[in-house]
Amino acid sequence: PRKLILDVDTGTDDAVAIMLAALHPDLELVACTTVNGNREIEHTTENTLRTLDHIGRGDIPVHAGLARPIARLDFPIPRAQRDPGVHFVEMPLAKATSKVQATNAVDFLIDFYRNTTDAVTLVPVGPLSNIATALSLFPKLVDYIPEVIIMGGGHAIGNVTSSAEFNIWADPEAAAMVFAAGFPNLTLVPLDATHKAVISLDQCKTLRASGKPAAEAAAIFVEKRVEGYRNYQRLDNPDAAPIHDALCIAAMIYPEVITTEDYFVDVETEGRLTVGRTVLDVNKRAKRDPNAHVAMTANTALFGNFVLDTLINN
Ligand code: BDR
Ligand code: CA
Repeated sequence: PRKLILDVDTGTDDAVAIMLAALHPDLELVACTTVNGNREIEHTTENTLRTLDHIGRGDIPVHAGLARPIARLDFPIPRAQRDPGVHFVEMPLAKATSKVQATNAVDFLIDFYRNTTDAVTLVPVGPLSNIATALSLFPKLVDYIPEVIIMGGGHAIGNVTSSAEFNIWADPEAAAMVFAAGFPNLTLVPLDATHKAVISLDQCKTLRASGKPAAEAAAIFVEKRVEGYRNYQRLDNPDAAPIHDALCIAAMIYPEVITTEDYFVDVETEGRLTVGRTVLDVNKRAKRDPNAHVAMTANTALFGNFVLDTLINN
């Protein structure tokens, strides 16, 4: 199986990504690290533990990370304050019985990658605070991580401001560091792709009918997201919602689920209207080599089949 570490701010779509990664027979979820984002760190950590316990994978270690963005200490911005209704404070799952690890997320990531001989993909699907802090402590980390797949950013779409996506906007200085760090193989999965990675209310019925714990939980999360999106963002199909973070997991099994183009990507940290925007050098004005494979679109049918099949049949 392909090994991965998921850096999450769980979060309804993070929870679906966790279940896919933990259950797919060709993936091995080595650990989860948690970060401030959709909710405060206590809740994103508890939600991560609950999600793993719910599917009988409380054995997967969870390490808690940063409670704040790296540079904006007065800027805790739990997502919920901006877009109420898409993410539960606490998941409607049994309180976690498994415990968070003693080692924090940043120390864990550095120690783990320094010592492993395995190829382990790092999949950050929340604000990039943990990854940037790990890079600050140990810049050579870039040479130890063979593949990074990030959910974040948007080229034609913003979701927290007119021009920015939440994960990047929530800690723009961290994101700028990560894109400048020199990772040899970095894939960015922005909103342009994840808005095609939708699950519909009809698919929720199929998930629920299976009676599988993971599928039932996913149905609850997707329905919550559909309701939330109806209230705060316009989507083409009001009976479906994007499950952003899950697209990164789908891409590990089916690379063709995303269509990528190679670009130099930088992050705006100052703009009055554009702070947190991922800036793609589409027309090669920056005279810089590409630093990311950027997913410009995704295959909705393949994504949906992957999610349903993985959660129902494992
Ligand atoms: C991203 O922001 C979070 O709310 C979601 O979990 C996802 O990672 C989408 O903009
Ligand atoms: Ca997330």
